[in-house]
Amino acid sequence: MQVSAVTPLLKCRGVTKRFGALAAVDGVDLDVSPGETIGIGGPNGAGKTTLFDVISGLQAPTAGTVELSGHSLAGLSADRILHRGMARSFQLNSGFDGLSVFDNVLAAVAFGRQSTSGFFLSSRKDRERAWSTLERLKLQDFANDIVENVPVLVRKKLMIATALVNEPQILLLDEPVGGLTPSETDEFIDLIDGLKTGGLTMIFVEHVMRFLTALADRALIMHQGRIIFDGPPSQIGNDPIVRSVYLGSAVIEPAASGGGAHP
Ligand SMILES: Nc1ncnc2c1ncn2[C@@H]1O[C@H](COP(=O)(O)OP(=O)(O)OP(=O)(O)O)[C@@H](O)[C@H]1O
Ligand SMILES: [Mg+2]
Repeated sequence: MQVSAVTPLLKCRGVTKRFGALAAVDGVDLDVSPGETIGIGGPNGAGKTTLFDVISGLQAPTAGTVELSGHSLAGLSADRILHRGMARSFQLNSGFDGLSVFDNVLAAVAFGRQSTSGFFLSSRKDRERAWSTLERLKLQDFANDIVENVPVLVRKKLMIATALVNEPQILLLDEPVGGLTPSETDEFIDLIDGLKTGGLTMIFVEHVMRFLTALADRALIMHQGRIIFDGPPSQIGNDPIVRSVYLGSAVIEPAASGGGAHP
């Protein structure tokens, strides 16, 4: 299928995820254009991670649709979605704790979309690809370290490395700088800014507003499963609904449509 210039890279319509009576994600519509960097904020429990889980195929939506480059992702597992070009990182540090930093990246290549061999027969090309990604993230000095022993900054970078090594079209980052010091956060701002300059499409979730405002072309704020703000990061603090959510305990009334509308 020919993808026209106006086709969003990622298109979500009415995306909803319920856990029993709780609508963790409630009728989210979202278009992401190629090259865009979107920052998502919102209080704890707003549904940000659950939205990522549904988009990236870790959890099936209760309702709604997700398309990547005009193709539905319905029913595809997370690994198949990675092969279609979407990679993500996790809020909590993921990775194989007992393997070295290098072997974690190698595993990501072997099971990813750029593999030229299987994991147990990792080819020279796969190893070279893993090594060049470590260099890109300035992780060479940690290559042989076992992951459970490395500092949090290295683990955070490793998650980015295992995503980038597959050369995704779109990268989802869940709290990339959560738990980092201010100077480590600065280092990450430079890192993500470099990816942005390279044209990578990104959506990140982050509570650290300094990070969000430095990098996002567009900010979304979620609350109770819905997007309550979609606009320039500079305007977040001026929005009355966002202010009431952060300063008080705003409860958003149910939308007249029921909030889970499909196009
Ligand atoms: N597997 C699950 N079963 C039941 N409830 C869940 C499950 N996963 C998430 N929830 C609930 O869904 C809501 C949204 O959770 P989610 O983790 O998406 O929020 P979040 O915006 O990422 O929060 P935080 O900023 O703390 O990471 C919360 O009320 C959470 O308790
Ligand atoms: Mg979360």
